[in-house]
Amino acid sequence: MAEKLTIDNISTFCKSKGFIYPSSEIYGGMSGFFDYGPLGAELKNNIKQAWWKFHVQDREDIVGIDASIIMHPNVWKASGHVANFEDILVECTKCKERYRADHLIEEALKIQADGLKADDIQKLIEQNKIKCPKCKSALDKPGAFNLMFQTYVGPKQSKESIAYLRPETAQAMFVDFKQVVETARLKLPFGIAQVGRAFRNEISPRNFLFRCREFEQMEIEYFIHPGSWEECPYVDEIMDHEIFVYSAEMQQKKEKGKKMKMKEALSDGIIKSPWHAYWLATEHKWFVNLGANPNNFRVRQHLPDEKAHYSKDCWDLEYNFPFGFKELQGISDRGDYDLQQHIKHSKKDLSLFDEETKKKIVPHVVAEPSQGVDRAFLVFLFDAYNDDKERGNIVLKLNPRIAPVKVGFFPLMNKLDKEAREIYNCLRKLFVCQYDKSGSIGRRYARADEIGIPYCVTVDFDTKEKKEVTIRDRDSTKQIRVQVSELKNVLYRLIVGEVEFEKAGKLIK
Ligand code: GAP
Repeated sequence: MAEKLTIDNISTFCKSKGFIYPSSEIYGGMSGFFDYGPLGAELKNNIKQAWWKFHVQDREDIVGIDASIIMHPNVWKASGHVANFEDILVECTKCKERYRADHLIEEALKIQADGLKADDIQKLIEQNKIKCPKCKSALDKPGAFNLMFQTYVGPKQSKESIAYLRPETAQAMFVDFKQVVETARLKLPFGIAQVGRAFRNEISPRNFLFRCREFEQMEIEYFIHPGSWEECPYVDEIMDHEIFVYSAEMQQKKEKGKKMKMKEALSDGIIKSPWHAYWLATEHKWFVNLGANPNNFRVRQHLPDEKAHYSKDCWDLEYNFPFGFKELQGISDRGDYDLQQHIKHSKKDLSLFDEETKKKIVPHVVAEPSQGVDRAFLVFLFDAYNDDKERGNIVLKLNPRIAPVKVGFFPLMNKLDKEAREIYNCLRKLFVCQYDKSGSIGRRYARADEIGIPYCVTVDFDTKEKKEVTIRDRDSTKQIRVQVSELKNVLYRLIVGEVEFEKAGKLIK
């Protein structure tokens, strides 16, 4: 179903149902900025909470932080962002339209162009006579464009007060490293996680939420002892996990990639580090456990040109969007580059004491799983969206755990409003619920399906006499009868996936 949908279909759907609106639309909108409406805000919060629970609260080895968006400007000098966080820009000599040069090359030549330098891009433009896609005129010389959003802190707007909106959440995990280790009493290996906003002045934001100028990230810096690259204590958990693998070698040989178990990828040396295999599989599992289609993903290794010079290896978890396989999440091995940079620039000791060797060590980041919240939001929408021709309406089959509204309450007739509201008022304190008494019951089910409400409770005349209600399942449309006294318990078990729908009550034949 997802492959027939376009990104424009999803964007129109999101606007019409109150998931997402263009930002400041009454003033004409702003490219690359979006507002999450009532349903979108719930869905996005549920995604972030599910990520936090899975990656932080359910684990002993990862702790979370929530750092400020504006940090000391030297953070971004040390990290290299002020000097090098750039994309290559190319401008049309006539209409002055500006393009992100690697995207222009990718579209014109259907090759991977991420990481190409301005000179290489210039050569490709000349050799292939690439023109401005809009007016077909000649393109100017490509040049670097820094993506950092600059601002001033305090009342004086001078060189000294320049600061930046963070372009990633990650640097706070390095800057706060020593304090987090000491206060949380962490022992290697461990991770520090964060969820929060990031800002990039993208040259050409596009594909709706996929590339925006303000977005959110869910990131982990996972630290290990520098000598323990081979020792991942969790690797057995993922050995049988299957995923589509597309290594750098497969890309260079123009091969297709292959679905394989992680144990095969590791034993064949396709994925070199057990840590990388562990994090790639774990991140894929997170999506699948929350209802994404496992077959819409692949893991792709970065080509040597794409990788940062300090990175041993880098893989992306990619999703098959209607505009092709694209990065959802980068999982990079960063070694000790970031901690060493901050040691150098802050002149502070960020090393740890190794009890075994009695020496100081600077831990290595063996993996930096870095996920965009807005891209995850798109994935869950694409995989949930079903245009059900038989029902004659959209059915948004979101996993109940992330669905923005968990339960719909409908009185069968207006006369039953009082009884239905009593039950609704009790349950809405526990789950996000919606009350709907307008229109036929069929119309109310259709409205609920379209916004992904997994369970609808109908209050009928038997509710008064037998103290029973009907629960209707969004995906199968099957219905069960349950006692009102049991309703809270049954709904909870259905939402968290503890019980199958048909076994949760008396099935109505
Ligand atoms: N700390 C590493 C880092 O930030 P990245 O590959 O630049 O790495 C990580 O970004 C993730 O953040 C991406 O995989 C993507 O999901 C999300 N992301 C990056 N730029 C984005 C943008 N302009 N709009 C939406 N999401 C973005």
